[in-house]
Amino acid sequence: MSATPATSVSPSPSIQEKPQQSHLFLGGINKPKPHIISGKGSTITIREPTGEVRDVIDGMTGAAVGALSWGDEDIIDYISEAAKEYTYQFPSVICNDAAEDLAKFYIDNSAPNAFAAALWTSSGSEANEMALKTIRQYWVEKGKPQKIKYLSRFTSYHGYTTGTLSLGFSNRSTPFTEILAPRSLMVKLPEYLPYHYKLENETDEEYSVRLLAQYEEIILKEDPETIASLTVEPVSGTSLGTPRPTKTYIYGLRKLCDKYDILLHFDEVMCGTGRMNPNGKLNTWENFLPLNEGPDLQTVGKTLGSGYVTIAGMLVSPKVRNAYLDGSSSIAGAQTYSCHAFNCAVALKVQQKIISNGYTKNIYEQGNYLGAELAKMLTDPEFKMVGDVRGLGGFWTVEFVKDTKTKELFPRKLDVSHMVSGTCHKKGLIVMGCNDNVRDGETFKGGDFIMYAPHFTITKEDADAMVKLTKESILEVQAKLIADGIL
Ligand SMILES: Cc1ncc(COP(=O)(O)O)c(C=O)c1O
Repeated sequence: MSATPATSVSPSPSIQEKPQQSHLFLGGINKPKPHIISGKGSTITIREPTGEVRDVIDGMTGAAVGALSWGDEDIIDYISEAAKEYTYQFPSVICNDAAEDLAKFYIDNSAPNAFAAALWTSSGSEANEMALKTIRQYWVEKGKPQKIKYLSRFTSYHGYTTGTLSLGFSNRSTPFTEILAPRSLMVKLPEYLPYHYKLENETDEEYSVRLLAQYEEIILKEDPETIASLTVEPVSGTSLGTPRPTKTYIYGLRKLCDKYDILLHFDEVMCGTGRMNPNGKLNTWENFLPLNEGPDLQTVGKTLGSGYVTIAGMLVSPKVRNAYLDGSSSIAGAQTYSCHAFNCAVALKVQQKIISNGYTKNIYEQGNYLGAELAKMLTDPEFKMVGDVRGLGGFWTVEFVKDTKTKELFPRKLDVSHMVSGTCHKKGLIVMGCNDNVRDGETFKGGDFIMYAPHFTITKEDADAMVKLTKESILEVQAKLIADGIL
């Protein structure tokens, strides 16, 4: 007779022994984190794990999410109106006006005829998953099912789902390598990072041309007839730290895709939706491409809802939409919260307010001011570890190296980027510390940088305060590294 195990009423001893400071399975699982209490303008109030409540300047708006300031009264008022007005229905069967209106708004605020339709999702990862599937179905609709390879770049990030981790290649994907889509399908091209990979005496233009030639070689080796798409962030965020590409490079990508019948997909989840458009509009690629030669697909997120709602999306060009119309006329797959009415309504209100108040123009100007002020550290002999300052509009990076002449990296284990971001936090400024933007083959060598992505409403005074706290923090870390004999 087999014995039935007794049901225990108390947790097993091994569970009891573990101290529990958080009930969230998130980040450092049992590491107490600061908690957000409230926000107003560019300032957030947080409660530290010690219980201390303090105000800090928000230089990164979470993960480059903030466009409108925190605590925007118009949006907060509108949220309660929208909650009354919009009722959930499964949108691929019973849709809603808000999703339609948001699509029309995005299309109207993009270059003419760049996009013809949109699909709204709940996160950037989900938007990129949709892009992967849309690309696949496009080639089936076109009668070219053999096009199954996705080109993307080394040191790239496109989301944390297994599909998007397969599309990317970063220190976030490497722990999962064994369960990702095979590299024979997910073909990687060298990334664009002139600060580290440009040859001595090579200009950015020459570097761009050299990279494009390498890409063409890889495309030919892989057989263009099997290649479905190329995905890039026009300005890469957390993976590389905002290198500003040349027009030659981005236009070269467009031309390569045209030449070999490959779909060009821009991931503007982090860099787009107003963060760096020079004309007060939405798209980042409009800095680099002729307006009538945009991407075939584009994914967006973050600033779309500006942190007030969880929304992202995918835009398709007339070319992609027409292929579907000439084929099955139907999209395979739908998710419960696609085109969610309440989220779309709030995002539309956010975007209308941004555009009508000229905040995209403001972030372009004030962001470039922030970048120029940060860049002064490059020529100031007091700053011994600031190797590069790069970015555009509202998206900036300060990169640290052990030797600014040779660009030698700091030992990875020192985690200099988080030393600096931690010191900034202590002094009252939130920036994002990032590592591992430099690789040796398929292994990351290191690399330390901090990033800025402030609200579009940022003032000159906000920018000055961010620069001041940054400089103080870097000097404090630098003094410690000198004292420890590292610098
Ligand atoms: C370029 C890029 N793509 C996609 C994503 C994924 O977006 P989400 O975190 O909303 O899933 C991110 C997030 O940081 C991103 O930076």
